[in-house]
Amino acid sequence: MENRAMQLIPYFRLFANQSLHLIHSSNSIHWLSQVPEGLENNSLNIYMAKSSPPNVFQEYGKQFKSDFTKFLQLRSEEIICGGHMVLTLAGRSVADPTSDDGCCLWELLAQSLLDMVKEEIAIRKVLPVLRHTIKGITNHDLFSGRCFKIADLGCSSSKNTLLVAFNIMDIVVELCEENNLKPPQFHVCLNDLIGNDFNTLFNLLPDFYAKLHKEKGENFGPCFISAAPGSFYRRLFSDQSMHLVHSSNGVHWLSQVPEGLESNMLNIYIAKSSPLNVFQAYEKQFETDFTKFLQMRSEEVVCGGRMVLTFCGRSIDDPTSDDGCRLWELLAESLFDMVKEGLVRESDISSFNVPIYYPGEDEVRDIIQNEGSFSLESLATFQVDWDPQNMDYKNFNDFVEPSQTRGENTTKGMRAVIEPLLTSHFGKSITDGLFKKYHKYVAQHLSNNKPGFFSFVISLAKK
Ligand SMILES: C[S@@+](CC[C@H](N)C(=O)[O-])C[C@H]1O[C@@H](n2cnc3c(N)ncnc32)[C@H](O)[C@@H]1O
Repeated sequence: MENRAMQLIPYFRLFANQSLHLIHSSNSIHWLSQVPEGLENNSLNIYMAKSSPPNVFQEYGKQFKSDFTKFLQLRSEEIICGGHMVLTLAGRSVADPTSDDGCCLWELLAQSLLDMVKEEIAIRKVLPVLRHTIKGITNHDLFSGRCFKIADLGCSSSKNTLLVAFNIMDIVVELCEENNLKPPQFHVCLNDLIGNDFNTLFNLLPDFYAKLHKEKGENFGPCFISAAPGSFYRRLFSDQSMHLVHSSNGVHWLSQVPEGLESNMLNIYIAKSSPLNVFQAYEKQFETDFTKFLQMRSEEVVCGGRMVLTFCGRSIDDPTSDDGCRLWELLAESLFDMVKEGLVRESDISSFNVPIYYPGEDEVRDIIQNEGSFSLESLATFQVDWDPQNMDYKNFNDFVEPSQTRGENTTKGMRAVIEPLLTSHFGKSITDGLFKKYHKYVAQHLSNNKPGFFSFVISLAKK
């Protein structure tokens, strides 16, 4: 069924009256003749989902009934009396249309699309800083050399990954044109942990090269792309080889869970009820890691080269403020509910803490200054709503409370980030139940608050 556009494909007569003895169809009849009408309020879903309003199920059911009836009517005219039909089609095993076997795959796809929206928001916020940073490179020898080398650290493996590289090359070319310089060749090094799905990224390369060719013309580049798998807390590139290092949403990931968190009991990150040493342990781990990150890059970035780093932080000094830790407190509460139901052991929560830290502005400035290899050219902050779509759901969904939809989107975003860590510690069986509870808590919180993820975007120059 590839190349089937989202359009009306009416069912037609195909054969002469009473001409067929046996009709066979496999995996086709669950394809509807058109997208059902009246799905405008299915907001951030792409099929029936747990958060769909009831009319969405009704419209899908109605469309299937009408199409299948039409199919039977048409075939009844074509098949001889006593003829047979053998039809195979996908369906669901239970009456509930939102059961996992019916819609889980579509929900995951919708979740991935939402993640991309969130990434795009961050990319758009960072673009002016990237432009300003690249235009601020006054040593034009960096461009007129034979190859401009760019690294994207913690690049992940989504379609947006290559958008960052495209934007950077776009700005460099623009700058070269303004200064009558011949644009350089480019080498883009994509880094992430060894388990990252680099194959998915490589599969995106043909389209990426075609886009470069189409938008930049034949004289552009060439642009070489390679992968540099491994932790960015170690050396990744040869001495003085990088002109611009970019990293988005990576540096708040620590190299390990800090040591000495045994007293953090029923919390999984710094929380209002955490003892002071918990905050100190996280703070120390971030200081060690971020210092190491700067040291490693200082050996790899050329003199006058730049780094643009975006990462989550907190807006105020207090590490237990809501913008730093509320999402984790709500997840810990959901886990504790499962303890009460006998589904999770209390000791398993006590031994689980996330390897993430949201630093404050002074910490970031102090570490950069103490490490000493880079000067901080600019530091800006921005906030992204917990729900990446952050829109007025009242306008187009009369059935579901806006906080429910926002809660659903926030939960999906957090699930994408944290599920692998949770399943490796607690096992796979608890995750669906856990995120249902989490959704409830998040929606409750959102009905009275407007929380956001607070982020820093910093521009650094190698001294
Ligand atoms: C939230 S994703 C961000 C992806 C992408 N840069 C973006 O902004 O959308 C964080 C990425 O950082 C990667 N990461 C975390 N710690 C890392 C480390 N020590 N070295 C390299 N990559 C790391 C993770 O594997 C993940 O792909």
